[in-house]
Amino acid sequence: MIAITGATGQLGRLVITALLEHVQADQVVALVRDPLKAEDIAERGVDVRHADYSQPSTLGTALVGVEKLLLISSNELGQRVEQHQAVIDAAKAAGVKLVAYTSVLHADTSALGLAEEHRQTEHALQNSGVPYVLLRNGWYHENYLAGVGSALAHHALLGSAEDGRISSASRADYAEAAAVVLTGSDQAGKVYELAGDDSYSLSELAALITRQSGTHVAYQNLPEAEYRKVLLDIGLPEPVAELLADSDSAAAKGALFDDGKQLSGLLGRPTTPVAVSLQQALATG
Ligand SMILES: NC(=O)c1ccc[n+]([C@@H]2O[C@H](COP(=O)([O-])OP(=O)(O)OC[C@H]3O[C@@H](n4cnc5c(N)ncnc54)[C@H](OP(=O)(O)O)[C@@H]3O)[C@@H](O)[C@H]2O)c1
Repeated sequence: MIAITGATGQLGRLVITALLEHVQADQVVALVRDPLKAEDIAERGVDVRHADYSQPSTLGTALVGVEKLLLISSNELGQRVEQHQAVIDAAKAAGVKLVAYTSVLHADTSALGLAEEHRQTEHALQNSGVPYVLLRNGWYHENYLAGVGSALAHHALLGSAEDGRISSASRADYAEAAAVVLTGSDQAGKVYELAGDDSYSLSELAALITRQSGTHVAYQNLPEAEYRKVLLDIGLPEPVAELLADSDSAAAKGALFDDGKQLSGLLGRPTTPVAVSLQQALATG
């Protein structure tokens, strides 16, 4: 059986959908913090089990009979190393044969502040003796597209990435790649650097938004501290504003760029262009 942590999250739900294209529902286990949020997943015939990263006592029973596990990195910044360690320990105790972990692009050398918890998790996997495969995911298109409404309202896309190039892909692309790895053979020991086939600067993204929406949007680059303040002013929690401003700043130095095309290699098709995801974002508002 193949289990997915964080199965009620945005990536987790897409992974479940992608997995069901490859295997029967009775081969899939959704590990969730809150089973009440997973009723629709259970209706698809998937076994839903309670598994909270911060309650290690839930993890052992949740992993009974699981051969392969996708550990989707937690979104609880600052607690992730401890949480992921608890899952790795439970996987080892349960005899899981492969752990796939959603890390970050070029985690070992990345200048992104958020890469630190991923690096430590990768080390924990290395030290555990459990066979593992690293899915070093690049940026989601959706990270920048979430700001399109505000960009249209203000005729400005704000950031700190200067002319750094961003090789993002859709969340669904990364989910499908995870399903390919989880249902493939001989994955232990592999490290995938996953990113979109094409890259863009934020000026180019602003031009694309202008073309597709008919509303003029210009990219305005801000110093990191100023961008962080803008994010705080629009109500983002401090750690998230910090993370986004830091990530943009690192993007200016190439931290979100990759041209290895390993993601499309796994998918067996080109990655979803940002223009397509933008069209969807504009259509759904
Ligand atoms: N590559 C990128 O661009 C990018 C962008 C953002 C985030 N990420 C990383 O990728 C992960 C997946 O992305 P996403 O878009 O699916 O994020 P998401 O929608 O925020 O999903 C995070 C998942 O983690 C679960 N979770 C949090 N704390 C937990 C706990 N204590 N025990 C069990 N589960 C817990 C959440 O459970 P609930 O459903 O109960 O809330 C949720 O299902 C994120 O968590 C983050 O580490 C990557």
